[in-house]
Amino acid sequence: MCVSLHLSLLSIVRPLVRTPATSLLRDRERSPQTSLQLAEALVPLRRPAPAHWRDRDISWSNPQGSVLTQVHDDVWLAERPFFPRLPGLQGTDVGGKMAVVRLPDGTLWVHSPVELDSALRDALAALGPVRHVVTPNTEHQKYASDWLREYPEATGYSCPGLRESKPEVGWHRSLSSLLDAPSGLTSASAPAEWCSAIELCWVEDRVPLTRRLPFFNEVVFFHRPSRSLMCADLWWNYPDYADADADFQVPRSTRLWKWGMDVVYKPVYNRLMKTDSWEESYRVIAGWEFETILPCHGEPVAEDAKKVLASHLAMAG
Ligand SMILES: [Fe+2]
Repeated sequence: MCVSLHLSLLSIVRPLVRTPATSLLRDRERSPQTSLQLAEALVPLRRPAPAHWRDRDISWSNPQGSVLTQVHDDVWLAERPFFPRLPGLQGTDVGGKMAVVRLPDGTLWVHSPVELDSALRDALAALGPVRHVVTPNTEHQKYASDWLREYPEATGYSCPGLRESKPEVGWHRSLSSLLDAPSGLTSASAPAEWCSAIELCWVEDRVPLTRRLPFFNEVVFFHRPSRSLMCADLWWNYPDYADADADFQVPRSTRLWKWGMDVVYKPVYNRLMKTDSWEESYRVIAGWEFETILPCHGEPVAEDAKKVLASHLAMAG
């Protein structure tokens, strides 16, 4: 996220709105819980990872310390700490999540890939062949080229405009080739390329005080079998809890980041960044029967997902 831009707009501030994750935790005894119990309390859909997948440090951004975390019969998350390179943020874990969907034909569809390592390669190989690698927006392109080199049989999809501007990454197709509905924002039906299991919608926004820049635009996805909405930066859910008895904490710097996102950036987005087509995109997304939201940043939500999204985007629920 463009922190300097958001901090320059501090005059547009609203009171902090508690996130679903915080509310869930508040309803439970905070002590003494283990980190896993805390994670399960926050996200009932997170299934315990097998021991051989628990190969890394436990933290708020990977509460099971696992290479993959299953959240549905055919959906997994790769939960990772993520430290931006921006000055002043190198020590702040802003967290990052990749979603992996196993399609009806047994192949894997990967959303917003994280850094590849040998454990992740092995875990994916046990699930199925990687055949689709999706870059949903400009910000989440960092590891796309690594994945396309590692999985040459996969089709790499970029968000609209990105493939043309950065051909060296190696994306094979633009997601715009699937946006075949009359509006150009969505597809007339779920694309056959993805076994008709996943729908998509293009959400365009603008950067205030500049000429129109596509940095925050993204394609949002709906996985029909799991009723899951997958998004990169349209919705986030950073936790802000602190539990002295847990194995992990949400660091102060991460909670400050959350404050910036919730109190500074979100009002800016809702008031200044929506384009003329934005509400039409929102109507498409709101029309999907999703029950879960799987974000790239923060905790998934599995209760009142439509109301949560509407509230976040300042839309009528
Ligand atoms: Fe992001």
